[in-house]
Amino acid sequence: MATETLKTMSGEEMIALSKKHTLFEWSAQSKVDPIPVARAKGIYFYTPEGKRYIDFNSQLMCVNIGHGDERVIRAIQEQLAVLAYANPFMATEPRARLGAKLAAIAPGDIDVFFFTNGGAEANENAIKLARLATGRHKILARYRSYHGATNGSLSLTGDPRRWAIEPGMPGVVHVLDPYHGIERGWDTAEQSLAMIEEVIQLEGSHTIAAFILESVSGTNGVLVPPDGYMQGVRALCDKYGILMIVDEVMAGFGRTGEWFAINHWNVVPDIISMAKGLTSAYVQLGAVGMRRTIADQFKDKVFYGGLTYNSHPVACAAALATLQVYEDDKLIENARKMGVVLRQLMDDLTRKHPSVGAARSIGLFGLVELVRDRAKKTPLAPFNGTSPEMAALSKFFRDEGLYTFVRWNTFFTNPPLCITETQMRDAFAIIDRGLEITDKAVQ
Ligand SMILES: Cc1ncc(COP(=O)(O)O)c(C=O)c1O
Repeated sequence: MATETLKTMSGEEMIALSKKHTLFEWSAQSKVDPIPVARAKGIYFYTPEGKRYIDFNSQLMCVNIGHGDERVIRAIQEQLAVLAYANPFMATEPRARLGAKLAAIAPGDIDVFFFTNGGAEANENAIKLARLATGRHKILARYRSYHGATNGSLSLTGDPRRWAIEPGMPGVVHVLDPYHGIERGWDTAEQSLAMIEEVIQLEGSHTIAAFILESVSGTNGVLVPPDGYMQGVRALCDKYGILMIVDEVMAGFGRTGEWFAINHWNVVPDIISMAKGLTSAYVQLGAVGMRRTIADQFKDKVFYGGLTYNSHPVACAAALATLQVYEDDKLIENARKMGVVLRQLMDDLTRKHPSVGAARSIGLFGLVELVRDRAKKTPLAPFNGTSPEMAALSKFFRDEGLYTFVRWNTFFTNPPLCITETQMRDAFAIIDRGLEITDKAVQ
């Protein structure tokens, strides 16, 4: 009966009851305006009334293989039927096979994994591992970053989402990024690395356990580091005995046209965190991977970490099936191929629309920054704010059936990796018309 009720709710009823009895994240509740979602397939999702949206953000940059893949659904169903749960002190086949599979695809000699429920917990455990392994306590992180919403991960986070929980976890030191916003632009890799080294010296290198950074920063602007930056961070970490933790929660699993974005720079971190694309969000799972040298430290020393749902068999089975889909459907190759199309379409927008101040992408990870003055590069919405023009653009996308993330003066272009060229062009046709709204604001 309960299922019947779920299936027959209208969009309006879903919204009313959800708003009455559940909290929506990162929002003042009177301002939320959710889209009711009843079903999804491929790159599309639908309201109960049948309105179709192109999912141009893979929901939260996570449904990388696309919606409703029967192979993953079957794997989940089969695992549920055989063994829905075993506690984390047990060994199970999905756990065993997923650990081995991730060791095969992870960068370099990353070989051992600890499973979590998502990205924030992966980062919590990454810093715990780094502190236990080094005996040091400080963690370097960057300002233009997001690492999750638990206390430690939000303390690592540099963007304004951190402010509400301050003072947060002690020992986090934030450094500037090579990018300083659209008006100030980019540092070179050398300038940025020199700044990081100065901070390391000022803080005392012997007090710093790790430097955590997103390989390509996600919500803070699809910030692709300048060549030499990641290699330079690796060298600084080696020089000072600091562990390099790369957060691949958003950039991993094919999003950038590689299994992991850090592969673009041939850098092997000491610790890597992942989630989202690991299961393409069919069920929740995160992981923190580490080099054998770090794992070996816990042969005789206790690893103080645990979760009731660590190595959950259903999540591990979902991940195994998802990883198989990436391989069988050549989705990472498709991300690379469609990434070229995405780039061309972004270049077309840049030529045509004066409100486009910058358009960045790597694979199918993309973002457009809008400005009201191309010479001065004045952003169309302030840092951590919005504007009537950005709100109007967001409304236009929604009315036209294009779902994507609109944040500050930016919007994202992160479709599922199974997207075709025709579908990509359909999405960009909507964006092209939408930018006529923002062009009107350009002086
Ligand atoms: C780079 C990065 N790290 C960590 C997280 C946190 O992951 P989760 O929301 O699964 O806890 C996110 C989520 O967006 C992320 O983008």
